[in-house]
Amino acid sequence: MEATPIYETRRLLDEYLLFHYGTADEIMPWSFGPREALDFPVRTVRNLIDSEILPQQARALDLGCAVGRSSFELATFCESVIGIDYSHSFIHAANELKASGFMPYKAAQEGSLTQDLIAHVPADLPRGNVHFEQGDAMNLRTDLGSFDLVHAANLLCRLSEPQKLIARLPELVAPGGQLLLTTPCTWLADFTPPEHWPQGTTRDWLKQHLSTHFTLAAEQDLPFVIREHARKFQWTVAWASRWVRR
Ligand SMILES: C[S@@+](CC[C@H](N)C(=O)[O-])C[C@H]1O[C@@H](n2cnc3c(N)ncnc32)[C@H](O)[C@@H]1O
Repeated sequence: MEATPIYETRRLLDEYLLFHYGTADEIMPWSFGPREALDFPVRTVRNLIDSEILPQQARALDLGCAVGRSSFELATFCESVIGIDYSHSFIHAANELKASGFMPYKAAQEGSLTQDLIAHVPADLPRGNVHFEQGDAMNLRTDLGSFDLVHAANLLCRLSEPQKLIARLPELVAPGGQLLLTTPCTWLADFTPPEHWPQGTTRDWLKQHLSTHFTLAAEQDLPFVIREHARKFQWTVAWASRWVRR
């Protein structure tokens, strides 16, 4: 598969470091901005997880983990976490954050102006039990095994053939395990050829393809905000769901 070059750029790396690790004031300097849309990579874990059905010593897989914030969040609930992303640049940053707990970066202000910031993994999140690796969610290595929890936030509509990942999910999630999925349903030909888009709603399409092996246990609308520069933001509402493997 061709690399997804946009996720290898410095601009996207800086944007995702801010999205995952920025403080409220760093991301949203406007008091009238949508502050309830902050902390998305935290909420995709904390709002969706059912910790009561997680076994002791749970294994988790975070697909499309980007620069890793959700993987570190998962590590508070699970004994081991594997974060996989196709972007070498994101995985390099995630590994630097794992090793030292911080990483300097620049947030876009306007034009060529930037602000020097430092991404910090919150001190209360474990880092030692998280492993990051570069990989393709449509062609994962065969020896991954199965997981008590699989998290894939805003990944499906960035895949050229999302059906390939969907077909692998019943094997990746152990019986009784949970699948936490979010998607902004932003289908774009740049990422996914239209013949691989859902024909109806993404929710109906996922129900059709997942219901043989999974029960839809919870769903929510989760807003998120990505800062492009100090005066331009993407505000989006993801459809978020928890599925339990039968
Ligand atoms: C929209 S971002 C979401 C990142 C993160 N989960 C979040 O919610 O902030 C999509 C992520 O999927 C990754 N990605 C794209 N294609 C992929 C593939 N084939 N396998 C694994 N990751 C992929 C990108 O590098 C990027 O990090």
